[in-house]
Amino acid sequence: MKTTNKVALVTGSNRGIGFAVAKGLLKKGISVILTSRRESDGKEAVAKLSHENVCYHPLDVTSHESVDELATFVETEFGRLDILINNAGINYDTWQHVANADLTNVQETMDTNLMGPWRMTQAFLPLMQRNNFGRIVNVSSGAGEWSALTGGTPGYSISKVALNAMTISFARHVKGTNILVNAVCPGWVRTQMGGSSAPKSPEEGAETIVWAALFPDDGPTGKFFRDKREIQW
Ligand SMILES: NC(=O)c1ccc[n+]([C@@H]2O[C@H](COP(=O)([O-])OP(=O)(O)OC[C@H]3O[C@@H](n4cnc5c(N)ncnc54)[C@H](OP(=O)(O)O)[C@@H]3O)[C@@H](O)[C@H]2O)c1
Repeated sequence: MKTTNKVALVTGSNRGIGFAVAKGLLKKGISVILTSRRESDGKEAVAKLSHENVCYHPLDVTSHESVDELATFVETEFGRLDILINNAGINYDTWQHVANADLTNVQETMDTNLMGPWRMTQAFLPLMQRNNFGRIVNVSSGAGEWSALTGGTPGYSISKVALNAMTISFARHVKGTNILVNAVCPGWVRTQMGGSSAPKSPEEGAETIVWAALFPDDGPTGKFFRDKREIQW
């Protein structure tokens, strides 16, 4: 799929907020690489979008091989990546607290929610640096605010605090270039993770993520947003 549009990649975009972000970016004239762990899920999602500017590639963010394969695909197919949305996330672990948490479970959560975005950013930053353009949006959570750390959802919360720290660290690392790195809390959203009682639709949850993906060259970096407003880490 050759294109003159800006190119975005969304992790975990077969369903939930990631799928809504893919849809939102397509509406803004961006070409989207939709990714998923299971090929059948991803291809079904692409078919649902039924848009000429979307293509598919498999991705498991916990696998170096998978991330490297995707980076080679993007380099060969597009020669650039303008927007990276680190959306894939797991394990809102309400059943445990910090003092009794199963640390194997915590480690698995970290591998997806923190190391996944870290792997992806390491893999795609060189491509962004080469073109001196990049917008990286890390999908975080209110559970990752310092004030929210009261011992509950320990794996999830601490993985999101760490993701926020990674956001600041990368933003400072590329400061002075045209690469902006920010974190967004989508709010409480009706997805498999958020459940059916959540007040926001996936499209509403995607809004601030899409907004941050389209920041202008002098836009903010190293910040945390919800509902298009800056919030405290
Ligand atoms: N929903 C909320 O209320 C809420 C609130 C705050 C923050 N968030 C954050 O928003 C993001 C999206 O959440 P969601 O509510 O849309 O969750 P979701 O419906 O559970 O979707 C999660 C997505 O991540 C994918 N994923 C999981 N592990 C992966 C891996 N190793 N490699 C690649 N993809 C993987 C899933 O793929 P499979 O289909 O293969 O499982 C799925 O596409 C997450 O980072 C979450 O922490 C959500």
